Amino acid sequence: MKKVFAVLGNPIEHSLSPIMHNSAFEALDMDCTYHAFRVEKNNLEDALQGAKAMGFGGLNLTVPLKETALSFVDADPLAAKIGAINTIDFKDGIKGYNTDGIGAKRTIEDEGVEIKDKNVLILGAGGAARAIAFTFAEAGAMVNIANRTPERAMQLAAEIGDARGYGLDIVDKGLDEIDILINTTTVGLGNSNGTLVSAEQMHSDLAVFDIVYNPLMTKLLQEAETADARPITGIMMLVYQGAEAFRIWTGREPPTEIMKRTVMEALDI
Ligand code: ATR
Repeated sequence: MKKVFAVLGNPIEHSLSPIMHNSAFEALDMDCTYHAFRVEKNNLEDALQGAKAMGFGGLNLTVPLKETALSFVDADPLAAKIGAINTIDFKDGIKGYNTDGIGAKRTIEDEGVEIKDKNVLILGAGGAARAIAFTFAEAGAMVNIANRTPERAMQLAAEIGDARGYGLDIVDKGLDEIDILINTTTVGLGNSNGTLVSAEQMHSDLAVFDIVYNPLMTKLLQEAETADARPITGIMMLVYQGAEAFRIWTGREPPTEIMKRTVMEALDI
């Protein structure tokens, strides 16, 4: 009988996780299937118990369930610090993980950019920023966070310990000391064509990573090109967060190239 996997969230109709994971299962000839279910926060505990009872292999969680899930799972230490769960494994109880930060880390490392001992500036202090900030701090980066609401950046920096929080005006003071700039805000998403940093504020040794992948070349990344800096698109973060979940569930090496191709085709890139 096929092993069942799923992503839970709301809205969930446009999730790329089903096609991405199904392409991976198919490529490795695994007898598994992956679906999407709309689940509200107040039903999450029942949904998790139900999935466990029915022998599901694993789950991904997305908006608005990631934070709520912490109360219902045995969270690994990194996910507990981040305060959000995006991956659940049922092999031994109900274990919760967060692979978003690892997805970002692998995306940047793939480009030949090292993280250890580098100065990183994260724009934003929401869920994605938390995942990246804790993961990069653990990987030995010097983490700086700049947010529209400075208090959120300072709060996150304080939770990390060896990190600093600022308002967005820190960008005007120059990015000369920064090696890696990461946008985790929604600025640049869709047709907005906005950017929090312009070419004049960048330098040519800067790696600029935008977690927004729709459009693929956001205004921020276009500015990076103009500055002769290194633009890194968000598409592989989606692939790698899924690939790490796949590894947790199956113990197998995920076919990331196939997963990437499937996602790119679906987005018509
Ligand atoms: P997610 O969990 O996806 O990271 P979130 O928690 O809603 O989303 O966080 C969104 C981030 O984008 C926040 O850091 C938000 O800044 P505030 O904390 O000040 O709200 C940031 N953001 C959203 N719209 C923005 C804008 N127009 N300019 C600057 N920052 C913006």
